[in-house]
Amino acid sequence: MVKIEFENVTKSFGRKNRVKVAVRDVSFEVKHKDFFGIIGSSGAGKTTLLRLIAGLEAPTTGSIYFDDEVVAEDGKIKVPAEGRNIGMVFQNWALYPHLTSFENIAFPLRARKQPAEEIKKKVEFLAELLDIKEVLGRRPGNISGGQQQRVAVCRALSKDPSLLLLDEPFSNLDATIKDSARSLIRSVQNELEITAMIVSHDPADIFSLAHNALVISNGISIQIGKTEELYNNPYSIDVARAIGEINLLPSTIFRKDGQYLIRAGDSVSFSIDAESLRTDGRIEDGQKVILGIRPEDIRLLTKQGRESRYSDEWVHLCDGTVNISGYSVGVFRVIFNVPGISKDIVTTSEVPLSGGTPISVLVKKNEMLLFNSEGVSVMNYEVTSGGSRLVEASK
Ligand SMILES: Nc1ncnc2c1ncn2[C@@H]1O[C@H](COP(=O)(O)OP(=O)(O)OP(=O)(O)O)[C@@H](O)[C@H]1O
Ligand SMILES: [Mg+2]
Repeated sequence: MVKIEFENVTKSFGRKNRVKVAVRDVSFEVKHKDFFGIIGSSGAGKTTLLRLIAGLEAPTTGSIYFDDEVVAEDGKIKVPAEGRNIGMVFQNWALYPHLTSFENIAFPLRARKQPAEEIKKKVEFLAELLDIKEVLGRRPGNISGGQQQRVAVCRALSKDPSLLLLDEPFSNLDATIKDSARSLIRSVQNELEITAMIVSHDPADIFSLAHNALVISNGISIQIGKTEELYNNPYSIDVARAIGEINLLPSTIFRKDGQYLIRAGDSVSFSIDAESLRTDGRIEDGQKVILGIRPEDIRLLTKQGRESRYSDEWVHLCDGTVNISGYSVGVFRVIFNVPGISKDIVTTSEVPLSGGTPISVLVKKNEMLLFNSEGVSVMNYEVTSGGSRLVEASK
């Protein structure tokens, strides 16, 4: 079993006036058998976090624990990479081009001088599990990207690691095989009962695999939580965007008799009762805010549907016009405009809507999010930050 803990870990590269802080004061815990995600944009510090866990880097300050034992602390590695029992799939898979798939998978076992019979058994077991038996005799240059990725996963698993680290493992794969690659990894982790971590900038990877995740931005851990919690209760606009799509409307909010009036652009103006809008109450009358609405919390009514009744859960935001709509797995992705708002707004529809169609826009009342002008949520939920200084991070 393995549980990982980071305690106030900072990692800087370079010296003197050329110091680059890649990870700043990060604390988090990954429980035994958890599938933990790390999500953030390019350069956020994701790979650095994995390299620290793998023992390929030492933290400049702070401590890293495996099962309550210190493995690295304040610039010193106490348990080296070989002693940590980790399988890692690197961002570029890093397969040996001159070796066959079999030899790539067997490589860590040969390095351990395991008997040939055992190696063969292990490689074949993993190749069966990941469905690549037919390519074992071929070199990486002669197999598909999806197969290379599975060879890399098999190699990472060959040593029976107690921890599997995956660094953007699907970024070089076609959209069509990404889903099957994700479900394969998910079932392998389940079957082998190991702790796993995945780094990605793609929310789809995080949602399909991770139970819990950390959102990192500029080396700072902004929020840690269950994936659905990050989605529904983001600390900031950065988090909301990292974990999914969100429409953001700069607005002004007014308070009146237990109601809020929200205005955006020329055309958005609606009232909502204080109970439905789950703010933390620290909103001033006339305050500038940013209204955040997830695509799935919008419903579009066309002229025919406009007379139909909708329940109290929805509020009429404004009228607008469809810009374009496209098809994506069973639903139509619709981009529309509303007068006086320069941004496109994104949602989905069960029916195709052609460009220019006038629409009436409804929004689910208690799913609206509000952020202050710094981009920090002013909603009534609490978040876990992982020790970083949040306000600084949001700027
Ligand atoms: N060995 C190094 N020397 C100097 N700077 C480094 C080193 N490794 C990483 N960095 C810097 O630290 C920051 C974080 O890098 P890291 O590779 O962890 O980002 P990442 O989140 O994995 O990005 P990507 O999504 O592009 O892979 C970057 O600014 C990077 O340039
Ligand atoms: Mg990286």
